[in-house]
Amino acid sequence: MPEPQTGLQPEPAQGRPAGGEPLPADALRRRSIRSAFERAADSYDTAAQVQREICARLARFGHPFAAATIPTLSREQPVRALDAGCGTGFGLAQLDALCPPAQQFALDLAPAMLARARARARHPASAPAGPLPVCADLEHLPLRTASLALYWSSLAVQWCAPARVLDEASRVLAPGGLALVATLGPRTLWELRTAFAAIDNSRHTIDFHPIEHWSAAARAAGLAVLGSECVELAAWAPDLRGLLRDIKSIGAATVDGGRRRGALGRQAWENLQARYETHRRSDGQLPATYDVILLALRKPFPGSPT
Ligand SMILES: C[S@@+](CC[C@H](N)C(=O)[O-])C[C@H]1O[C@@H](n2cnc3c(N)ncnc32)[C@H](O)[C@@H]1O
Repeated sequence: MPEPQTGLQPEPAQGRPAGGEPLPADALRRRSIRSAFERAADSYDTAAQVQREICARLARFGHPFAAATIPTLSREQPVRALDAGCGTGFGLAQLDALCPPAQQFALDLAPAMLARARARARHPASAPAGPLPVCADLEHLPLRTASLALYWSSLAVQWCAPARVLDEASRVLAPGGLALVATLGPRTLWELRTAFAAIDNSRHTIDFHPIEHWSAAARAAGLAVLGSECVELAAWAPDLRGLLRDIKSIGAATVDGGRRRGALGRQAWENLQARYETHRRSDGQLPATYDVILLALRKPFPGSPT
């Protein structure tokens, strides 16, 4: 029987580049995430129905905030918009709609994802060269302070420390600029965690923070929370193997410490399947919950309260 893959499988982390000092834990984790998404780039689009839906929801949620804030921005510099953690680039079309005259940046840690985003991008009349690809870390943006009108990020910030990623978002936003962020809350993949709890003590998903944690981190970063929304969506598949494959493809599973090393044995796999069966829906599909958090954040003008 082929071994079930229960998560993103990072490359073996050696922790020591040839002839060099050991890499710090953060750098190792980053490298792991990057190589997992490099490998997921080919399969991402076919597995990412929920991700497309979340992008569309973030755009609908963000539209009134963008309409109210972006036209009020100073026109002293070009209007710039960033898709932060762009993946294969679903979000870039939404940026066109939310912030039409903008120069776009498509930023991701994984070069293979960026290559697909470039191939997908439409080149609107306002930016005939298309989005500028940037291979970088959301926690260390290679962008000028106060240079963006719109920071858009769908399903990427859950891979980062909330304080660090929102501090960077706040730094690069121009006064009056808007951040629209979709991330995942603690009920995400609860069915999977419950089923695995009976099998082993390993971690099978990353840690998902509640909305209160994200809102507090935003305020601490000097951003005003203009609006927020939580919604539960479900991905589904006819069997657990298909569901796990989709979860792995879109990168919601863990690459952190405590994850399982090695494949499940036959008995453990059958046990896991039996436990997950209890969630089968009346339409015959097995669901996986995505606890989606949408946030609209604004960088205040100097002197105005957050
Ligand atoms: C689940 S995908 C979402 C992609 C896209 N935004 C979408 O909605 O389809 C997450 C993306 O975030 C990227 N990512 C994860 N951590 C990152 C980081 N620290 N800096 C930049 N990109 C990161 C991954 O490489 C991946 O392409």
